[in-house]
Amino acid sequence: MCGIVGITRKRGGVISEIKKALKKLEYRGYDSSGIAIVNGNSIFVIKGVGTIDEVLSDVKLEDGTTGIGHTRWATHGGVTDDNAHPHTSCDNKVALVHNGTLDDFHYLRNKLRERGHVFRSETDTEVVAHLIEDKVRSGMDRLRAFYESIAPLSGSYAIAAVFAGSNEIFLARNKSPLVIGLGEGENYCASDITALLHLTNRFIFLDDGEVAVISPDEVRVWRLVGQEVIPVEKEVKEVSWSPSLIDKGSYPHFMLKEIYEQPHVLRQIADNVEYYLKFSQILAESIETGRRISFVAAGTSYHASLVGKYLFSKRLKAQSDSIVASEFLEWGDFIGVDDLVIPISQSGETADVLEAVRRAKDLGAKVISIVNVPGSTLTRLSDETVYMMAGPEIGVAATKTYLAELAVIYSVVKLAESYIEGRSPNPEEVRKTIMEVSRVVESNLPFMDEVSVKLSESISKKRDVYYLGRGINYPTSLEGALKLKEISYIHAEGYPAGEYKHGPLALIEEGVPAIVLMPVNPDLQSKIIYNLMEVKSRGAMTIAVTPEELELEDVTVIKVRWDRPTEELSPLVYIVPLQLLAYRTAVKLGRDPDKPRNLAKSVTVE
Ligand code: G6P
Repeated sequence: MCGIVGITRKRGGVISEIKKALKKLEYRGYDSSGIAIVNGNSIFVIKGVGTIDEVLSDVKLEDGTTGIGHTRWATHGGVTDDNAHPHTSCDNKVALVHNGTLDDFHYLRNKLRERGHVFRSETDTEVVAHLIEDKVRSGMDRLRAFYESIAPLSGSYAIAAVFAGSNEIFLARNKSPLVIGLGEGENYCASDITALLHLTNRFIFLDDGEVAVISPDEVRVWRLVGQEVIPVEKEVKEVSWSPSLIDKGSYPHFMLKEIYEQPHVLRQIADNVEYYLKFSQILAESIETGRRISFVAAGTSYHASLVGKYLFSKRLKAQSDSIVASEFLEWGDFIGVDDLVIPISQSGETADVLEAVRRAKDLGAKVISIVNVPGSTLTRLSDETVYMMAGPEIGVAATKTYLAELAVIYSVVKLAESYIEGRSPNPEEVRKTIMEVSRVVESNLPFMDEVSVKLSESISKKRDVYYLGRGINYPTSLEGALKLKEISYIHAEGYPAGEYKHGPLALIEEGVPAIVLMPVNPDLQSKIIYNLMEVKSRGAMTIAVTPEELELEDVTVIKVRWDRPTEELSPLVYIVPLQLLAYRTAVKLGRDPDKPRNLAKSVTVE
């Protein structure tokens, strides 16, 4: 993954600006960090293992005007000072940062070694700095040396390079995100827009195979064709996200802030429900004409897709598939011309999702994606995009975007149902429903948080936690378990409650927590109560998230206060105490929920 940033400006102050922007990208990786600043005819580099604050707290340099920065999530080469970016050429006249992975770099490295280049790191990236140097030495100008070095690379890359004695930043992109931000007398680049929102809301989104050069007054973009470049005109897009959304405010962590923002996110979707009419109409037509439908997604978004699959079946009587993105190339061969593929992705940059979409398009499918980040790669690969309107999400563990994904899916299904039944859709009714859920989440949040704080006392001492759900809350059990394991590092698993007896029940012993998601529907309730008793009688510590009126003896209950609960909307409410429990447990254990070990928010490698 990794995050990259570059700033070129006339008025100096570039170091603190790069640090500020880099900190906004720490959610992409935080093993190591570094910056390279052009300092007259030399380049000043400081880098090492650690976070931006740790590595860059004490930079002593007269402030420059042009520089690049990097926050790393290791892929090639261990987490060492030498492997941290930026990487430089032998003569230190070229420095660059990279996000992605290069194939065949061993071959290039050996060739360069034969030509006398000395390598200081184990990374794939360093090869590119030496390639550029080699070409500059042979007399090429900087632009040509840059793009001729990029041309033979295969793999994924977003690269930003600087040269000693120049205020230009050279950029290249293939399969890793890279945006250019436009300022007054200054221009920027970064892995994503969140790093730059405090500087600008005007962006150019680079596409695969493009190279660019930015200076304080100018942005030039070309398409790389073989060894040559052809100039391209790029559209400038304005993004409405406000920089205040990328601030923790008074919250100790982004994750908690984002959990508390959920009622607001639901209101946003409710207020814009008409926006989803077009998608629902296409969906209804696809179902009526017998097209196959497949969701594709990863992580939390995959869990949302399971809710989609459930609602398509329950409400629309339509069969759909839900394919984990990283498995799509193996399992998606059945996709055919005119099939409908629905990727769901917060970032719109998850490499596995993008690869799946490329394959689906090759197979002739129509792709309509549900995405959060404006202008992300997925939006440009898809035939159509619907946005989930959650605003920027920084915490690595997805929370508010999960609710947004569920609310969008629910709205689209309700509207499509009317089309299928030959009625006019009623967006106002859907709006009211989502508004009500928003109120329910808002009014339950303080109490759910209190209960989570208490429960985290015992959960934090456990080794394993099991989550059991049925029907539409089976995905909730998966998502609840994912939240706990990713930020607290306690082993957790979600299961369909009825399936539990086919194996995992053997794991239950005295005191193992089993968290049961109680359906609203009474028939399902009696089934799951039976499952609950199965684990309880074997010594499990039982906790249940339940509708308010349900009485359960000797079970710790989290009662949801909700006047008119419905099964179909319960996942939007039930997941909230599970998010809070994961958060409070992680904090209790002294883990940083915003930066879980080994994980990154945007996984741009396959
Ligand atoms: C990473 C994140 C998860 C996220 C998943 C899919 O693993 O840590 O929180 O759910 O990627 O991300 P996407 O942006 O495609 O929804």
